[in-house]
Amino acid sequence: MSDVLVTQQGPVLEVLFNRPEKKNALTVAMYAAVVDALHRADEDRAIRVVLLSGSGDTFTSGNDIKDFQSRAASKEATGASPFLTALSSLAKPLVAAVNGAAIGVGTTMLAHADLVIAAASARFLMPFTSLGLVPEAASSLLFPRLVGHQRASALLLLGEPIDAQTARDWGFVNQVVADADLMTTARSYANRLAALPPASVRQTKDLIKNGRPDVPGRIAEELVLFRERLHSPEAAEAFQAFVEKRKPDFSKFS
Ligand code: COA
Repeated sequence: MSDVLVTQQGPVLEVLFNRPEKKNALTVAMYAAVVDALHRADEDRAIRVVLLSGSGDTFTSGNDIKDFQSRAASKEATGASPFLTALSSLAKPLVAAVNGAAIGVGTTMLAHADLVIAAASARFLMPFTSLGLVPEAASSLLFPRLVGHQRASALLLLGEPIDAQTARDWGFVNQVVADADLMTTARSYANRLAALPPASVRQTKDLIKNGRPDVPGRIAEELVLFRERLHSPEAAEAFQAFVEKRKPDFSKFS
């Protein structure tokens, strides 16, 4: 079974993170599969909306930390970069259905979704500093605008988790529903969008996004720092602690 399942349901392209035994942690291959799906969605006239969701009890636990470790060792770039470009430039509307944990890029990608539906179980966490990293996906730009400076600092600087209702109160979730109703509700939003005049929808999405400052510029700026951080001793300690299932010790760093 593939780690990303892509299925077309009429005008909606459903993209499912499908690696539940690893809490849908995203590998380079998974990012590539999602990029292909997003390109396909923009190229295929029959597809009008993309719907993202996760299988099992998690939306996604973010980037695969073992992948981070091996990339840091080989000095390669993170696999997220083409994904962030494809996501932030998607012309067709994107609906996200979030169940359980949405960690790291699992939350930052939501700032690029047009509608976010959360199950009551959803929990949002961006633990970049705990991992010795910096934010990505232009989250350092978009979240302060979305939720305000202090709340963005709680999310990005402290890495504080928030629940579905708080995310709705803070403005990055449209609706919170019972877990059992998540996919039905998200599909209903996706189908409502799909039934609207497609060019009007694309242009409206573009106008909404055009009000934002330079998102591609911030994604690139963050990635430079992110790649540096990936090779840092702080990140190495954080990744190793995760693998060894222990608390990291940052006391020796200045
Ligand atoms: N990268 C790599 N493996 C991951 C992962 C990740 N981001 N998230 C979970 N896994 C793996 C675990 O190592 C474990 O593997 P194992 O069975 O081989 O030991 C498996 O998925 C199940 O995870 P586990 O931690 O046992 O489940 P849990 O229900 O106790 O906790 C999470 C779930 C998502 C809260 C927890 O796994 C977690 O915090 N993951 C890391 C999240 C993170 O920091 N992401 C990076 C953001 S930049």
